[in-house]
Amino acid sequence: MNTIYLTTSEEDIRRAAEIIKNGGLVAFPTETVYGLGGNALDPEASRRIYAAKGRPSDNPLIVHISEFSQAEPLVKKAGGLQYPEGSRIPEAAHRLAEAIWPGPMTMVLPKAEGVPDATTGGLDTVALRLPANDTARRLIELSGLPIAAPSANLSGRPSPTSWEHVREDLNGRIDAIIKGEPCIGGIESTVVDMTGELPVILRPGLITPERISSVLGVPCSYDPAILGKPEDGLVPKAPGMKYRHYAPKAEMRLFRLKDEASADGHKRLLSAMEAEAEEYRRLGRDVEILCYDSEREAAEKLFSDLRRLDQENADMIFAAALDQSSSIGFSVMNRMLKSAGYNIVEI
Ligand code: TXA
Ligand code: MG
Repeated sequence: MNTIYLTTSEEDIRRAAEIIKNGGLVAFPTETVYGLGGNALDPEASRRIYAAKGRPSDNPLIVHISEFSQAEPLVKKAGGLQYPEGSRIPEAAHRLAEAIWPGPMTMVLPKAEGVPDATTGGLDTVALRLPANDTARRLIELSGLPIAAPSANLSGRPSPTSWEHVREDLNGRIDAIIKGEPCIGGIESTVVDMTGELPVILRPGLITPERISSVLGVPCSYDPAILGKPEDGLVPKAPGMKYRHYAPKAEMRLFRLKDEASADGHKRLLSAMEAEAEEYRRLGRDVEILCYDSEREAAEKLFSDLRRLDQENADMIFAAALDQSSSIGFSVMNRMLKSAGYNIVEI
């Protein structure tokens, strides 16, 4: 298949929307990572998405919308939740959407009949997201359809934060790639389960539990499965969280301080990493160090750094662990731990 490359001009977004309407696949920018979009209401388009990514089809897709009203026909009412007059969307979901959308948050709600099982991996819930990226929203608007979009990477590769990353993985496998700007968020949206009485985070991201809790005035917890390692045997409620993700080709180690509170901690961590790297370099191995100044910077750069180091054929990657007591640090560490296969060195 010949992949065409489009700009973010109105004319090109229109072409992209036509492709989606005709059952094709288009990669597009969002504020988190690039998405691989297809018509969410067409099971055949969803099947093509799984095939293009090489992704297991029990892993549900997120459905992207450009306006809140587009969510109504995609969800159904369930017992035990409160609903405003004339809406199938629970009260709490209205409030979260109002406060946070457009933005890097995905809400899981009971799904309407019309949403194909092929899109939701056979689940009776649907994940909805209204992205904060003009090109993404315009594409959805012009197609007149909800757009199913997983991250636009090959399954098991780091999520793409630029169109060049998408080209690396999917050129020749999809109809078109929109050459938008690099993503500012850098890690995928927070997925929050809104089907129960209280919100539960199924995938951590830049929208924190504190933020959700302050909007709703109730506690917001993490799905226990994301707090442990995969071998702890807990089954995550977001099926995608069970797969090994983001693995670079190099052996990756995370360096963490035993005593995080110490004042010169960061400096000690760096010099320990440097010393260890030197030993391996003497043996002829190419060791690269990743150390970020802030959690936001780590979120923005982690995936693109992992891709770059793969291209440079690094043998080993030593990364400084982030402070997991902050929610953003915790979210990025969730990705780092998976990339490193939970390979931790304590200093
Ligand atoms: O930031 C993002 O969310 C990006 C951009 C493109 O919007 N999309 C993304 O999609 O990360 P994907 O497919 O790579 O990850 C979707 C995650 C998976 O962990 C999946 O299991 C979970 O959301 N998910 C989707 N639908 C769900 C549902 N109905 N119930 C529970 N988890 C669901
Ligand atoms: Mg993904």
